[in-house]
Amino acid sequence: MKIIDKILNQFANPEGFLGKLVLKTMFISHKRIMNWALSYLKLDKEMKVLDIGCGDGKTIKRLLELEESLFVYGIDISSTSINMAKKENRFYKEKGQVIIKQSGVSALPYLDDFFDIITAFNTHYFWPDLAKDLLEVKRVLKPGAQLAICARLELLDQPLFKDKKQLSQKLRLSGFKDIICYDYLGYRLWLSYKA
Ligand SMILES: C[S@@+](CC[C@H](N)C(=O)[O-])C[C@H]1O[C@@H](n2cnc3c(N)ncnc32)[C@H](O)[C@@H]1O
Repeated sequence: MKIIDKILNQFANPEGFLGKLVLKTMFISHKRIMNWALSYLKLDKEMKVLDIGCGDGKTIKRLLELEESLFVYGIDISSTSINMAKKENRFYKEKGQVIIKQSGVSALPYLDDFFDIITAFNTHYFWPDLAKDLLEVKRVLKPGAQLAICARLELLDQPLFKDKKQLSQKLRLSGFKDIICYDYLGYRLWLSYKA
């Protein structure tokens, strides 16, 4: 496997020492973007929020810094990410406000109409079947609830991630409405609501 593919693989499914290193380095560039993207969320008291592809768990922690009464759930396919996210959020986990599980986006371990907000930052380009996975995301969102997807535009241009450019259209076809895009420092945020 080429070195570039090895590194890209670590973004898609961080594993072991290299995976930890990638997650730690990634946060340096993602921090500003994360804060920008989170500023568009309509957080309210005791909401249930899900972070898909939670990585090192920094987004989960920031959500609770913004609104301390939230219940924040995190899922990720990588056990390395899950371990880091649990460690990062030990304090709120012990209070029962953070629940982190190893799971893929394609079969979310939650009831229908469960979440008030779902975030998915820098992850949707790795999902196995975007159209189907968006339906699964919609299933666990409450009607009218907010979905925020954020991604690096440069990665969306890679041949590896072809067919992922038309996210707005896919969101519409999957039953999301009021789709708005914002761009910032080479990243794009798609905000939408379950119809
Ligand atoms: C580039 S990292 C982004 C982490 C974090 N959201 C951030 O913005 O810093 C991508 C994460 O998505 C996770 N991921 C990839 N495919 C996934 C899937 N099918 N379901 C859930 N998580 C997935 C990876 O394991 C990894 O932790």
